[in-house]
Amino acid sequence: MDIITQALGNVANIFDLCFLFWCIVLLYLSLKKCFLKNRKGKVRLFLISAFTNPIVMYVVSIYAMIIPLAVVIFVFNLEDYEKTNQGTILIINVIAGSFLYMFLTLMFSRLVGKWLKAPNRSLVTFVYLMFGVFFSVMIRGYSDETLEASLPAFVLSIASTTVLFIASWLLYHFVIKALSQLTDKKREVNTKIFLIPPVIFNLTYVSLAFTNYKLSFESTTIVYIFSTIIIFLFIWAFYVIIRNINATNEAIEAKDEVKTLSVEVMEALAHTIDAKDKYTNGHSVRVAKYSRMIAEKMGLSAEMCENIYYMGLLHDIGKIGVPNEIINKPAKLTDEEYDVIKTHPGIGYGILSEIKSRPDLATGALWHHERYDGKGYPEHKAGEDIPLEARIIAVADTYDAMTSNRSYRKYLPQEKVRSEIENNIGTQFDPEAARCMLTVIDDDKDYVLHET
Ligand SMILES: [Fe+2]
Repeated sequence: MDIITQALGNVANIFDLCFLFWCIVLLYLSLKKCFLKNRKGKVRLFLISAFTNPIVMYVVSIYAMIIPLAVVIFVFNLEDYEKTNQGTILIINVIAGSFLYMFLTLMFSRLVGKWLKAPNRSLVTFVYLMFGVFFSVMIRGYSDETLEASLPAFVLSIASTTVLFIASWLLYHFVIKALSQLTDKKREVNTKIFLIPPVIFNLTYVSLAFTNYKLSFESTTIVYIFSTIIIFLFIWAFYVIIRNINATNEAIEAKDEVKTLSVEVMEALAHTIDAKDKYTNGHSVRVAKYSRMIAEKMGLSAEMCENIYYMGLLHDIGKIGVPNEIINKPAKLTDEEYDVIKTHPGIGYGILSEIKSRPDLATGALWHHERYDGKGYPEHKAGEDIPLEARIIAVADTYDAMTSNRSYRKYLPQEKVRSEIENNIGTQFDPEAARCMLTVIDDDKDYVLHET
């Protein structure tokens, strides 16, 4: 080996050392960006990135395997090492080393995730494995000295490490950037799926690296090109996957925001209705609450219980169309005035029918004064002809009327309210809804469900 080829070999090694340092810095920046936001411990994180870096762990694993190899030689009394099947021992040694390397990577990444208090530790492991992928590619084919100490081998080595510099920067710039957005969210994401491809890649390539050390220059070149393509595919695939998860999260959040706004608008409307009627302060919100409690007791789906709550909130919205002097009249209403009051379900229906995306809201407003025996209004519907939601709201509405304060009386005693509901099962009230209301009352031992 002349001086020039030796110098070339040294340059290639120094270049690889630079890549090692670069990977330490990138691992540190990645962990900091994703998991160490505005927190102390940056120096410690840098040291951790240096000592637990997949490249360092690989070197440690391979050296650690020298000891069992020596034990094998000693135990089997392989005095003349040259005569034994050296290749086979080396391969077994490297495969065992690969598994140790994977074990260390997984274990340390979990520990680092714990230290970082990462909400999703699989993502920390994923970052480690992705950096591990670079090293898996970088180390193959170096064992053959004649290959290393030639000008074409030097060019190939420098070119492949340069590609790795670029690939690792792309990984940091695209994948880690998108990942940091993902780790910002508290939303549960099953990230275990990220781990499988890099684990397989690491194991396969690290094992392959030492089994192909006698490969020709041409085949080594093909392996270089093939692995480079795989690396870029990895980066691209993970970038697309993480971006899609982020986009889905954003869509869900936007939907949640719209939902919160809708609920707030409905509650504001309910307060508007109640403000008009000075005798029924907070009536709509309470009816909504009681209706939901009945629905839950009836074992209806969570979605239906929520809908019934909204229908309860807006059931009296039609009162907006009834003159104030009738609604707030302290004396007994005349028949004509009572007829005006009876128009509120229809008015409410007219208003809520405008909400095309939620046609069910209008149902509660229109039918909440119907009775199970058909003696209600506006259409004297009876039994199961009345929509279930309206039958539930009717029970809650009457319960709240009895448990609210009036100008001439305080809210009624719980016992009286209970017997009143019990006595009207099957006449005024739907039997099942009324029985569930009785259960709600029985659960309310301290009688807190009334107007304060
Ligand atoms: Fe009403």
